Amino acid sequence: MKVAADAERLRREGADIVDFGAGEPDFPTPDNIKLAAVKALDANFTKYTNTGGTLELREAICERHKTDFGTNYAGATECMVTVGGKHAIFNLIQALINPGDEVIIPVPYWVTYKDVVNYAGGVCVFVETDESTGFEVSARLIERHLTPKTKLVIINSPCNPSGGVLSKEEFGAIYDLISKRDVFLLTDECYCQFVYDAAPFSIAAVPGAKDNVVVAGSLSKTYAMTGWRIGFALAPAPVIGAMMKLQSHCTSNPTSIAQKAAVEAMRGTQDSVPVMLAEYRRRRDFVIGRLRQILGVSIVTPKGAFYAYPNISVAFKSGKVKNSLDFSNQLLTASHVAVVPGEAFGTNDHIRISYATSMRELERGLDRLHKFIDGVRG
Ligand SMILES: Cc1ncc(COP(=O)(O)O)c(C=O)c1O
Repeated sequence: MKVAADAERLRREGADIVDFGAGEPDFPTPDNIKLAAVKALDANFTKYTNTGGTLELREAICERHKTDFGTNYAGATECMVTVGGKHAIFNLIQALINPGDEVIIPVPYWVTYKDVVNYAGGVCVFVETDESTGFEVSARLIERHLTPKTKLVIINSPCNPSGGVLSKEEFGAIYDLISKRDVFLLTDECYCQFVYDAAPFSIAAVPGAKDNVVVAGSLSKTYAMTGWRIGFALAPAPVIGAMMKLQSHCTSNPTSIAQKAAVEAMRGTQDSVPVMLAEYRRRRDFVIGRLRQILGVSIVTPKGAFYAYPNISVAFKSGKVKNSLDFSNQLLTASHVAVVPGEAFGTNDHIRISYATSMRELERGLDRLHKFIDGVRG
């Protein structure tokens, strides 16, 4: 947020900024989805809906999840619509976590988890992963951090920021581990359709998993709908009930018109998804190729999402740059490229580059990044 604000200020002052900071698709929302919202407006579908969303949308979400991943959720009791996937995560953590409860979070992590757990009075237990193994968390690593106070394990695959994707086997092993205990597994499926080299899957499809798995889903990235604010949770009925109580006193229902658009996203053509995925793959390959040309920079090939997470610690050796935040600030001020410092995600040797932007911007920004690192390498 700070980098975005600084970039915006520089832009207002006339600087030609290349923005690799934004974690949102540069594609427009597909036309069929937009049209459904227009129709909803024309039909005056502009009033309150049920707190957890219309039954029509909840059933559409469960159908889509079943078609894509083979799960079997009941729209009326095991699904709720939220104001973006972030809201599903917030609701769950506030409903589930009591002061002192421990929440296991693999590093690097999406920034929000930590703050939302802290807000609930929970204790974040960070599990360090290794760049040399693609930042992949394992059941073995998680097991070492389980205590009687562990209440929740959060897995985000594909991962923001690393682009890491857990294998089905490892995810299954993590599920086996927690299912033997009184622990919930939150699977953040925000980028579930953007997997490059394997078939997407949901751990919620494992027989029996529904009892202690919570899916946080989002339409933001899959359908380029970040501004519409539609996400969802799939969870055991008592958990949905608790989350619903919280939502009813905080936001009430997500926007009615956006819900109609979301029904079309779930039930209408899915043609836009592979088109975006192919474009992200093309950009990923370009970005990784260019980063590998920069002396001293290492990069784990992202297997999903639309982020690259290069190690830029080579820039610290000369003493001209102190850490990832300093790197990002200097890169922005001197070379007018906005990136997010790894510090925000729990590692200090990295920056996050979002390649959800045009090839032209990627070329311009990576040229500047290359020159910047050559200049500070010393
Ligand atoms: C890992 C992850 N989870 C969840 C979200 C939430 O997205 P939204 O609230 O737009 O659905 C994001 C957004 O950037 C994300 O990166």
